[in-house]
Amino acid sequence: MKDSDKKKLLPDNYMEMKQEGKKIVMLTAYSYPQAMAAQEAGVDIILVGDSLGMVELGYDSTLPVTMEEMLMHIQAARRGAPNTHIVADMPFMSFNVSAEKAIENAGLFCKKGLADSVKIEGGAEYAGVINAVSKAGIPVCAHIGLTPQTASLLGGLKVQGKTLDAAKKLMQDAAAVQEAGAFMVVVEAVPANLAALITKKLSIPTIGIGGGIDCDGQVLVFHDLVGLYKRFTPKFVKVYANVYDVMEKAIEEYVKDVKEGNFPEVQHSFTMKKEVSDKLNELSE
Ligand code: KIV
Repeated sequence: MKDSDKKKLLPDNYMEMKQEGKKIVMLTAYSYPQAMAAQEAGVDIILVGDSLGMVELGYDSTLPVTMEEMLMHIQAARRGAPNTHIVADMPFMSFNVSAEKAIENAGLFCKKGLADSVKIEGGAEYAGVINAVSKAGIPVCAHIGLTPQTASLLGGLKVQGKTLDAAKKLMQDAAAVQEAGAFMVVVEAVPANLAALITKKLSIPTIGIGGGIDCDGQVLVFHDLVGLYKRFTPKFVKVYANVYDVMEKAIEEYVKDVKEGNFPEVQHSFTMKKEVSDKLNELSE
C-alpha cells in the first residue's frame, strides 16, 4: 500500500499508538511538495507550524505570523497531503485574547484550511482556552516547555525545566493541558529525564522536540531535517540532507549554462512543420 492510500489518523489512533508503544512521527510542512513528500515518506501527522514565519517567510521570530499567512500554507499542505492528519499551529495572539476568539480562529483553520486539529502554545495558563476549543469540537495539541511565541518571558530560546521548581511547573502544565482535553502535547527543549517522566504520567501522547528518546513521538522542522535553513540549527536537530547546498549548486550551474550559451539545448526547444518554418523565413527576408 502506498502511503498516499493510507487512512488518515485521528486522535484515538495516536492514543492507541502510545498504548501499544508505537512511536508517532510528526514533521512540519508548509507547502504542497513538502507535505506530499512527508505523506509519501510515512509521516503520521503533519504540523503546519508557525515556524514557517522564520524558515519560509524569513522573519526573525514567529511573532509576526498572521492567520492569513498560516491559512495559505495550511491549504497548500492539505492539497499535498490529503490523507494525512494536519495539525495547524495557532499563531501568536490568535488564541490569547479570549476563548471565543480562539474557537473562531481554530474554526477557520478547519473550515477553510481543512486542518484536522490545532496546536496551542502554553501550559496551565491556557487550559481554559484548550478546553473551550476542544469542547467546540476541534482537537487540540498542546505545546509546553520552550514555547517560542513567549520565548522572551522564558529567557530566550533556552532549555526549560532545569531546576526542581521549573520541572514541577512543567509537570503541572502537562497535567493541566491533558485535563483540559488536549489529545497530544508537544514537549520542547526539556531535559530528557523530565520529558520521560511527563510521558509516563500522561495518558495522552507526548511529542518531543529536544525532549529525548522516551517521548511517545518526535517532531522536527522540515527545513532543519533536510538542511534548508541556514541561519541556525538547534542542538536537538538531526540533519539528514543538505538540500540548501543542492539547490544552490543547481542554480549556479543554471546561471553558468545560460551565461555561456549552453542552455537551452535542442531537446529543450520546440519545432514547427517545415512548410510553416519556410514561410516564416520568407517573412524575415
Ligand atoms: O512551529 C513549529 O514548527 C513548532 C514545532 C517546533 C513544534 O511549534
